[in-house]
Amino acid sequence: MTQLTITPSGKALGATVTGVDLTQPLNDETVAAIRSAWLEHLVLAFPNQAIDHDDLERFTAYFGPFGDDPFIKPLPDRPHIIEVRREANEKASVFAAAWHSDWSFQEHPPAGTVLHGKVIPPVGGDTLFCNNYAAYDALSDEMKAKIEGLNGVHSASLGYAPDGAYGDNDGEDRSMTIIANDTAYATQLHPLVKTHPETGRKCLFVNPGYVRTIDGVSDEEAFMILVELYGACHDEANVYAQKWEPNMLVMWDNRCTQHMATGGYEGHARLLHRTTIGAR
Ligand code: SIN
Repeated sequence: MTQLTITPSGKALGATVTGVDLTQPLNDETVAAIRSAWLEHLVLAFPNQAIDHDDLERFTAYFGPFGDDPFIKPLPDRPHIIEVRREANEKASVFAAAWHSDWSFQEHPPAGTVLHGKVIPPVGGDTLFCNNYAAYDALSDEMKAKIEGLNGVHSASLGYAPDGAYGDNDGEDRSMTIIANDTAYATQLHPLVKTHPETGRKCLFVNPGYVRTIDGVSDEEAFMILVELYGACHDEANVYAQKWEPNMLVMWDNRCTQHMATGGYEGHARLLHRTTIGAR
């Protein structure tokens, strides 16, 4: 029988999981144990997993349907796998280096994301995560009352519209194929406070990458509210930095976290393969 060992990071979120071989199919009991650890720790890292594309897809499918990745060209023969790639000499900005939760501008954003490290630089390149349950819990009663029932206006436009960061004026040498287009201007409302469908706990559902404003309040008021919410989310005590190793697989829960890539590895290549777990 698989004997999982789950070691919490000691930070606001995150744990390392050993004692499982992801090159092999998992039994129901093991999948349930991983799901339970995922819901408790929000981000799970599995070191030393030399998996191939089939293994990555099989692992992802244990946790839900594949999500829809609208703006990044997938691998030629793998419609559900995208590369997060940066060449050693690349000058384009670091991809995803702003706080976000994946595809929150969709009507049904992906429940989770799975990222597998292929080429990992010797320095830098951590992925930062924050805990949106703890951020909600840390708000004053007054702020909790103020934001109850309000909806954030989510859109992909800052990144993926023609005039967005990855649009017409993006760095010419970006090695990832990003498909910026007008569909990124579409907007989608989501409550600022959501109840997680699996844990039943309340958490913030906001992120500066995709939330443009708050529906029904002035832009000034929205700005003041969002600044306070992001202060709670991105407080140092609420953030965990995931360090990468080649063959490490990391899965996270987009419903109650935000994340961002970091640089600091100039002169070194970085390559990871990513799938998303759709909402069920
Ligand atoms: C992502 O947001 O999926 C990429 C994170 C990273 O490159 O560290």
